[in-house]
Amino acid sequence: MSSGTPDAVPSADGAAASVGGVVRVRVPATSANLGPGFDAFGLALSLYDELTVTPGGSGVTVDVVGPGAGEVALDESHLVVRSIRAGLESLGAVVPGFSLRCENRIPHGRGLGSSSAAIVGGIAAAYGLTGTPLDRDRVVELANEIEGHPDNVAAAALGGFTIAWTEGDKGRAVRLEPAGGLAAVAYVPVTRVLTKEARGLLPAAVPHADAAANAGRAALLVAALTSRPELLMTATEDRLHQEFREPAMPESLALVHKLRGSGLPAVVSGAGPTVLVLDVAGGLPAAPDGWERYELGIDPVGVQVWSEQTERGPAGGRE
Ligand SMILES: Nc1ncnc2c1ncn2[C@@H]1O[C@H](COP(=O)(O)OP(=O)(O)OP(=O)(O)O)[C@@H](O)[C@H]1O
Ligand SMILES: [Mg+2]
Repeated sequence: MSSGTPDAVPSADGAAASVGGVVRVRVPATSANLGPGFDAFGLALSLYDELTVTPGGSGVTVDVVGPGAGEVALDESHLVVRSIRAGLESLGAVVPGFSLRCENRIPHGRGLGSSSAAIVGGIAAAYGLTGTPLDRDRVVELANEIEGHPDNVAAAALGGFTIAWTEGDKGRAVRLEPAGGLAAVAYVPVTRVLTKEARGLLPAAVPHADAAANAGRAALLVAALTSRPELLMTATEDRLHQEFREPAMPESLALVHKLRGSGLPAVVSGAGPTVLVLDVAGGLPAAPDGWERYELGIDPVGVQVWSEQTERGPAGGRE
């Protein structure tokens, strides 16, 4: 709460910043790749981390419940704190101190975009702290700088189904409307795979025929996800990354093969090890021992921000 003095102050270059109150952020989990859309496709899922940022004082205090509690740093090096700072800097504002509460639900290191949610959520919080209307394309650009690739951050920022790319070093994305009724089931194992580790297994080059097949399937997947879900099984075939990652996650690939063998469009979610099945709501096989199953909808709007400056509704809502 404001103590009467501004909590957000202009930076030395004099860029505008308004007084900040408490800011709340809700940011979705995301699944990248979706089979053939390697490093480009993203889907926002109805599983959310929530942040509460209360400006005041001169340092940061961080409190985490849910995934990451007891593991992540609770100081300036916390990914959400770093992202709030980066967001403030890009808006030309300084908030010397704040407390951050993270109510996390997205599991870490499982391929459901927890790092992107932390980054996009933190940047969105900076918009809320300064009373600036959310510029989602700018959030994608800035989040890509921190994350290093734009696929998950695009879906977390824009919601729905996204296609991301980079122009030079700038992260860009378009959002497409997923087909009505599209849903997803995530099978999440207890074991983690770090994105860096999974990337290290990919070959430097693939045969032209595999690249051509993937390009065609990726294009087909755009049609399948937006209007022709009956094509999802064929459209989710991949030859660029999933099988190469088998040594890092053999159980995940075994589950993908088993589910696909029963006619279900299963893919490795992001860098794994989560397995995602598209176009289904319930009625799927139980999770293997030691795995959790999440029945999820598609998040339509991406990150949302509520701040004390916003009298009604989310500052970042997509009406
Ligand atoms: N909410 C969070 N708060 C702080 N740090 C986080 C948060 N979420 C993720 N991280 C950091 O990011 C790491 C996980 O990142 P990583 O990219 O490996 O997995 P992921 O984002 O869950 O999955 P993927 O990128 O494959 O979808 C965590 O170990 C932690 O260091
Ligand atoms: Mg990540």
